[in-house]
Amino acid sequence: MRFLYLVQLQWLLQLGDIMAEAWEEAASITELYEAIKDCSRCPLGDTRTNLVLGAGDENAEIMFVGEAPGFHEDKQGIPFVGPAGQLLDQLLASIDLQRSQVYIANTLKCRPPENRDPQPQELETCTPFLFKQIAIIKPRIICTLGNHATRTLLSTSTGISQLHGKLIRKGELAYVPLFHPAAALHKPPLKSTLIDDFQRLREHLASERLRWEEEGEKGVELAVEPEVEPEQMGLF
Ligand code: URA
Repeated sequence: MRFLYLVQLQWLLQLGDIMAEAWEEAASITELYEAIKDCSRCPLGDTRTNLVLGAGDENAEIMFVGEAPGFHEDKQGIPFVGPAGQLLDQLLASIDLQRSQVYIANTLKCRPPENRDPQPQELETCTPFLFKQIAIIKPRIICTLGNHATRTLLSTSTGISQLHGKLIRKGELAYVPLFHPAAALHKPPLKSTLIDDFQRLREHLASERLRWEEEGEKGVELAVEPEVEPEQMGLF
């Protein structure tokens, strides 16, 4: 009996390894979605309606990373479809981009109840999926929307108020932190800052394109995963 139990346990552990490999080895966003759509690695798996992986062009030059799905995103399984998403669409249009030309994702793939802040354990569990998305898409520029995405991807304790609109290189990737559109909806003065920062983003993209032309093709191996410093999380 004990032997059978041990065999079953070993089988379950091996199955766990295989499941982990399925998302790690995903070669496309569709494969990644299939591998994690029923994720229950953290308690948000019990309360979400849909896992919201991302949306847009898988070959996009620009990727936007928000915080976590909200009410509308959870219902529809698509990121940034509520009021903040409508503002994001307008901001994209202001630099002649449509959401179908960029890729949009979040640090957390499932909605935190009542839209509360992501918890460190949820971020730790979920961000490997974000790094995998970045490795598949290989964007030229990643725009982090708000403090959560900025601190997660840039491992910095400097706040968005100081970083917004600047182009920051980290390894092979270039980041442009921006205020979160939802923050601009709550604090109208931030909206004009965000509008200005999108114009700066247009300029960053133009100069990055020149740099890529000089340096050669996109598609280098990306070391996307930052050294996470969990103790810094509380500093924001
Ligand atoms: N806010 C986010 O950070 N992400 C969404 O998808 C929607 C609102």
